[in-house]
Amino acid sequence: ITVTFVQKDGERRHFTAASGQTLMEVGRAGDVRGILGECGGACSCGTCRVVVEDEAQRRLVGDAGGLEADLLFFFDDNPPGTRLACQIRLAPELDRLVVTVPQD
Ligand code: FES
Repeated sequence: ITVTFVQKDGERRHFTAASGQTLMEVGRAGDVRGILGECGGACSCGTCRVVVEDEAQRRLVGDAGGLEADLLFFFDDNPPGTRLACQIRLAPELDRLVVTVPQD
């Protein structure tokens, strides 16, 4: 599964990930700026925000629900497609996923 993180300055970082990994784990392992994952993926810190810009990919990834939506509510700049990377578990259908990292 290949994934691409687009940094705030436009730099594109590509990674190969295994099915079952979360997007946050991939970003953190790859030192993607803005993916800190401070809570370790417990959906409580908000330091792993990403934006899925592409509509078709957004449908595959799905919307934030439950706890995740509650946490995102505290950020006032959530463009459509904003998700927490720790809540996106990679699967074959998400191959070639591209996300933007809104923070550095
Ligand atoms: Fe903390 Fe995602 S790693 S909310």
